[in-house]
Amino acid sequence: MKFTTAEALFNQAGGKRNGLPAWCYNNAELTQLEMEQVFLQKWIWVGHVSDIPNAGDYQCLDIANERAVVVRDNNGNLGAFHNLCRHRGSRVAVGDRGHCGNALICPFHGWSYNLDGSLKNIPRSNAFPEIDKDKLGLKPLDCEVWHGLIFIRFGGEGKSVAETYREAEQEIGLYRIEDMQTYDEPWRFDFDLDWKSVVDIDNEGYHVPKGHPGLHDLTGPTYTDQVLESGLGRSYGSFKNRQHKIPLNQNYVSSLPESNYLPESHRYLWIYWGMFPGIVITLFPDMIEVYQVYPTGYQKSVMAGACYALPDERKQMQKARALNREINMAVGNEDVQLIKWAAEGMRSSAFDEVLLSDLELGICSFQNQLRDLIPVVGLDQAPESGNLKQVNQHLVDQRKLTSVA
Ligand code: FES
Ligand SMILES: [Fe+2]
Repeated sequence: MKFTTAEALFNQAGGKRNGLPAWCYNNAELTQLEMEQVFLQKWIWVGHVSDIPNAGDYQCLDIANERAVVVRDNNGNLGAFHNLCRHRGSRVAVGDRGHCGNALICPFHGWSYNLDGSLKNIPRSNAFPEIDKDKLGLKPLDCEVWHGLIFIRFGGEGKSVAETYREAEQEIGLYRIEDMQTYDEPWRFDFDLDWKSVVDIDNEGYHVPKGHPGLHDLTGPTYTDQVLESGLGRSYGSFKNRQHKIPLNQNYVSSLPESNYLPESHRYLWIYWGMFPGIVITLFPDMIEVYQVYPTGYQKSVMAGACYALPDERKQMQKARALNREINMAVGNEDVQLIKWAAEGMRSSAFDEVLLSDLELGICSFQNQLRDLIPVVGLDQAPESGNLKQVNQHLVDQRKLTSVA
């Protein structure tokens, strides 16, 4: 793994340590552009193969004003589609997850679609003029499975998931994620604030000692943030040979069974792999947790995830996993509060700008990647209302010209 330095990242940001200006967190036109040019162009995590094991099982995701459904067909393959009926646009798959039998049937007028997305049947079809059924299947999306994790992409092109995560491959490969199954119910937090406020807190461990006393007791000063040359983030903390003050942590550590399939180097680590814009794969010795942050509209964002674990009936392991959830749910609740306070601050007339330390290099890396895609976020002031998209395009064109020259 090749790591980059805080100095290199801040140099890339023009030597500035004041992060994105506050207007970037409070601008509906920017949110729209981010949805179009980030979330609808990048890989989005949807779930795990064990969430939809049988033909007709499906999983839905609503994100950035779009709706997706991933469904398993009769050959065991996964297909991803816009969750959008070709008649009048209703969703064809309902709820977060479900089983549709042999076909996805639209709840509005009953058009049905085969599990491969093709149009199957139109009720009372003689009431329509002649229809070319081949042209009215569900619209497909890119779909890739990587280590048992399902990813989709609405548009754009470029690296596969495996290529994007190449530097994490070796470590993530240790965990046998493809053999895991859902552990516990998926979780979700809805926020009335910009998605970047949520991502920002997740991109730095500087807040851990003060903001997460329980997690800090578990890993102490070993907690470290790293940024790889590819832009992937990796954070880790070790609980090996530490004296824990908090009984929850003591119980967790003492409950973990001695025998574990992981190499010695990974039996005491909590590791967090972060992928732009907001996906995190967390590796624990007892299970994994995957979550992501995304916008659903202006000042509307979601942080949602799920845990997966290998089948293991040992009582000690069951106990360790339950305690792990307790520790992590406390961390999640603490983050929710901190995120809200920081986002409120961004709306205050007293807010000037942030000041980033070397310990917040992950934020700088995230913002560098965003500035790269959407250069308008590098402006100190918001463009005049109604002009943001054009101003951004102008900056993109200028950059192209400069790079050619
Ligand atoms: S909108 Fe789906 S059948 Fe009419
Ligand atoms: Fe946190």
